[in-house]
Amino acid sequence: MLLPEQTKEKPMTTAEIGTSEQVLRVVDGFGRPRPSERIEESVMQMRGVQVFYGDYQAVRDVDLTIARREITAFIGPSGCGKSTLLRSFNRMNDLIPGARVVGEVSYHGIDIYGHDVDPIEVRRRVGMVFQKPNPFPKSIYDNIAYGPRVLGYTKKELDDIVEQSLVRAALWDEVKDKLDTGGMALSGGQQQRLCIARCIAVNPDVILMDEPCASLDPIATSKIEDLMHELAREYTIVIVTHNMQQAARVSDRTAFFTAELDEQGVRYGRLVEAGPTRDIFMTPQDQRTADYISGRFG
Ligand SMILES: Nc1ncnc2c1ncn2[C@@H]1O[C@H](COP(=O)(O)OP(=O)(O)OP(=O)(O)O)[C@@H](O)[C@H]1O
Ligand SMILES: [Mg+2]
Repeated sequence: MLLPEQTKEKPMTTAEIGTSEQVLRVVDGFGRPRPSERIEESVMQMRGVQVFYGDYQAVRDVDLTIARREITAFIGPSGCGKSTLLRSFNRMNDLIPGARVVGEVSYHGIDIYGHDVDPIEVRRRVGMVFQKPNPFPKSIYDNIAYGPRVLGYTKKELDDIVEQSLVRAALWDEVKDKLDTGGMALSGGQQQRLCIARCIAVNPDVILMDEPCASLDPIATSKIEDLMHELAREYTIVIVTHNMQQAARVSDRTAFFTAELDEQGVRYGRLVEAGPTRDIFMTPQDQRTADYISGRFG
């Protein structure tokens, strides 16, 4: 089944002035507009999602909506299932032996685990960037041309796609004179932007990022954060982060997960609450969120 293509008109945003409180300064610092309480337009949805690794149930009962052209941050303690859920959004869990997703994960209303949906097509629409930059052992050019070449573009088209993707990933100026150099020879921050460019090159709709700045220094991190804001004009982004300041700085919405013990004393992950980032940080509805935020954002 063909998944619907997305159009790419660009909505403009206006900054909103916040209060003087520290968190709000962070939240407002980048001038993201305040998202509406209700999600107007969703791109992906989870309903009753449970994820198993063999007999072990890692995640229980997640209902979550991802808003279009917004940045949604997943936060929560280690082992609560953030990466597991992120991988469920593009069927990356299919590649892990024993992993199984129950419930519904839909993309523009289509169940991506449906029997007639091609997982490769899902991963093209819903791309992924990992914690550790993972360029292919190929030239910068070929790292980006790899996907589009498989899709059958001509050399001229590939040249354009490579340039456009690098421009969008804010890397073009740094590498335009050395496209034949190996991607592994770039700095960590450049490699991560190369991986983002590679993801963009196949024209995705959603970009999943699992702690994309975890291995980067503050300057490279800040470049990636700026880039995320640029990208959110055209793409829908879901980011896992351990850094509360980062979640507050970059995201429009935040989903807080935690790990709890079941009746047998086995840990499982669950979603506690999700909403506009400012609300989750300033007026969390659940005590577990309040405790986590205040502990991490003191
Ligand atoms: N490939 C796997 N096989 C078996 N169990 C796994 C696998 N990957 C994750 N798990 C388990 O699933 C649970 C959730 O793991 P996951 O990696 O999604 O957590 P996380 O929230 O991303 O943690 P972290 O913040 O440390 O990255 C953990 O108990 C973990 O041990
Ligand atoms: Mg993880």
